[in-house]
Parts: sequence; structure tokens; C-alpha cells
Amino acid sequence: MARILLVICGGIAAYKALELIRRLREKGHEVPAILTEAATRFVTPLSVGALSNAPVLTDLFDLDREREIGHIRLARAADIVVVAPATADIMARMATGRADDLATAALLATGAPILLAPAMNPHMWAHPATARNVARLVADGVRLVGPEAGEMAERGEAGIGRLAEPAAILAAIEDILAPDRRLEGRHVVVTSGPTHEAIDPVRYIANRSSGKQGHAIAAAAARAGARVTLVSGPVTIPTPPGVTLRAVESARDMLAAVEAALPADIAVMAAAVADWHVEAAAQKLKKTASGPPALTLSENPDILATISRSASRPRLVVGFAAETENVIAHARAKLARKGCDWILANDVSAGVFGEAENTVHLITADRVEDWPRLSKEDVGARLVNRIAETLAD
Ligand code: C5P
Repeated sequence: MARILLVICGGIAAYKALELIRRLREKGHEVPAILTEAATRFVTPLSVGALSNAPVLTDLFDLDREREIGHIRLARAADIVVVAPATADIMARMATGRADDLATAALLATGAPILLAPAMNPHMWAHPATARNVARLVADGVRLVGPEAGEMAERGEAGIGRLAEPAAILAAIEDILAPDRRLEGRHVVVTSGPTHEAIDPVRYIANRSSGKQGHAIAAAAARAGARVTLVSGPVTIPTPPGVTLRAVESARDMLAAVEAALPADIAVMAAAVADWHVEAAAQKLKKTASGPPALTLSENPDILATISRSASRPRLVVGFAAETENVIAHARAKLARKGCDWILANDVSAGVFGEAENTVHLITADRVEDWPRLSKEDVGARLVNRIAETLAD
């Protein structure tokens, strides 16, 4: 049984917090709650208290209750603080460290892990300001569950922004309270992002990889207790907490960094490595009357194939395959050609680069697993789970 401080913010999804309280109580957890002022317009402290049978605090000034319970005491005594639904506003205030109401003061005072279950209009979720605040909070160690894609309360609005289902929030809470440490003592090397191949000192050839999938795998492996070395090409997303970053530019740098990181138990090669590099000019190429320069391309080393066949090969080597047709057949051929153990194959004909979600197939020597469409975080968690199962065999 744990003490879960639930912060409820104002939003249409606030009513789902009641269902969450019911489920947490069924599991025997204690669920004191703080309602923001806006939350009290969607659910009443009375209904929350009736379900939780625990203290409910609001900003409506109540000196007696504050003296008796105290929001700081609640925050300090919690095993976890869950914000559901978390609005764009509370995330903005948390990201800047504000404490201008009971909820944000408690969030600042707690030493317990914090889980946010965001819910908002898809445009608000997609806004760069929200993305910036989320990145800041994730870098601070705050965990997120959802939001999910689907229909919004506003008619005709669809997209990412729905509150995660109570069951998913419950699973995320349990994962934090009793974390999976199955990769404890293991070293995992993950490659991520694109490579930049210099043409001259100011120009380069790159690709559209965002690094989201590789970084999500590194984050999941770190959460499972592994020591993680993330060898990443240039990306704009934050380094996940608990991960050692080796930042590289070209494919040749990436190979050197991966080799330097060995020995490892597991290697997951999620980077979109350029197949060729240019014989880079020492000085910036000039525009001349004789026309454009001819670029001479040379083959890059295949990092996945090199590592799969190296003397210090990790026990499990996982590659990626981005295909636009015959996904499974091409991935199977790649498994043999590269000498790796598994391939995560995805169909990129519909556009995956930079997206939040991915549809993948896990291909091993003897079978194919079709995974449903998942967030890149969930693909990471699922892959790490399969890795932990395999190493335990
Ligand atoms: O052959 P293809 O580039 O489609 O293979 C993709 C897989 O191989 C990915 O896991 C990618 O990280 C890896 N790769 C590599 N080195 C290269 C090219 C691809 O490690 N030069």
C-alpha cells in the first residue's frame, strides 16, 4: 500500500480522476488529493473525498484544515505525486518552478517521484511552448503517461491530447512504485539520431531522423536499471535522465564511439546512419563560373554489421529497418546480412520520421511479432521488456 498524492487540475477530463481514485483505492492505496481552483469547477471536493475517504485540499482558504493537514506535510509524506489531468498551465508553472497555489507548492516541496497525465486540446499539446515545458520537466526527472490520440471533447477536434486511460495511469504508477530493475548490472549501448556527413566546413548531408525512437529506448533501458551509453548524432531532443551521452556527427565518429563503449551486453542500433560520406573539402567550397562541384561519395562503415561480427560482440544485437515495401521480407534479409539477432522493422511509407508514434514488427531468427501502433516511448518499453525476458532465459 502506498500514499499517492493526487493533484487534480481543471479540465473536461477531471471527472476521470474519480475513476482513478476508485481503482487506486481498490488496490489499497491511500489517496489524499489537492484540487486546483479550476478543478473545483469540474469536480467537487465532496465527491473526491467521498471516494477517497482521505484529506482533500483546495485553495479555498481554510486555515483550520491547513493547520491540521498541511499541503507541505502531504507532499513530503507521499510515495508518489500524480497530476491527473495535468493541464498546459500547471506544466508551464512547474517548468518554471512556481508555487503560486497549493498544487504547485506541493509539487515543489515533494521529494517523491512525480507522474503527469496530461490532457488538453491537441493544438495546446502541439504548441512549442508546451513541448518546451514538457522537455524541461522530463529533464528534471518528471515522468509522463500519455496523452493519447483520439477524439476530443470539442466536436470535430482530434489528435494527441486525451488523458491516458485510468488503467494506463495505474500501470505507470505501479511501475514507478515497484520499478522493473531487470537490466540491473547490464551495459546497453544505443545509437540514435541522424549522422551529419561534412561536405566542407559549413555544409553537410543529413537525414530527417529526430532521434525520438533511439532516445526512448535508451530511457527505457535506464529505467530498467541498465547502465546506458547513448551514442547519438545531432538531435534537438533532451538526453534522457540517467543515460551517458556520447555526441557524434558522422558515421565514422559513431562507429568509433560505439567501439569505444564496448564491452556491452546489449546493442540497439536505432540511428539513421548515412550510407555514404563525402570527401570533405578543407575550405568552404566557392561558387564558380565553371558550375557546381562534383561530390565524390564513399561508402560508410556499416556499424551494425561491424559490431555484430566483432570480437567483442554484445550478447544481443538489435538493428532497425526502415522499409517502404515488403517490410518483413526485406527485414529478414537484413537480419542475415548484418548478422544481428533481432530487427525492429517499420513501414516508413506513411511517414514515421519525427512523429510520436511507430508501428513496428520484431523479427527474430525464428519468428515475427507484429506490434500495434504505439508511442515511441511504448515501443522502447516493450523492446526493453523483450530484452529482459530473453536475457533471463
Ligand atoms: O541497411 P540499413 O541502413 O537499412 O540498415 C538499418 C540498420 O543498420 C539500423 O539499425 C542502422 O542503425 C544500421 N546501420 C548502421 N550503419 C550504417 C547503416 C545502417 O549501423 N552505415
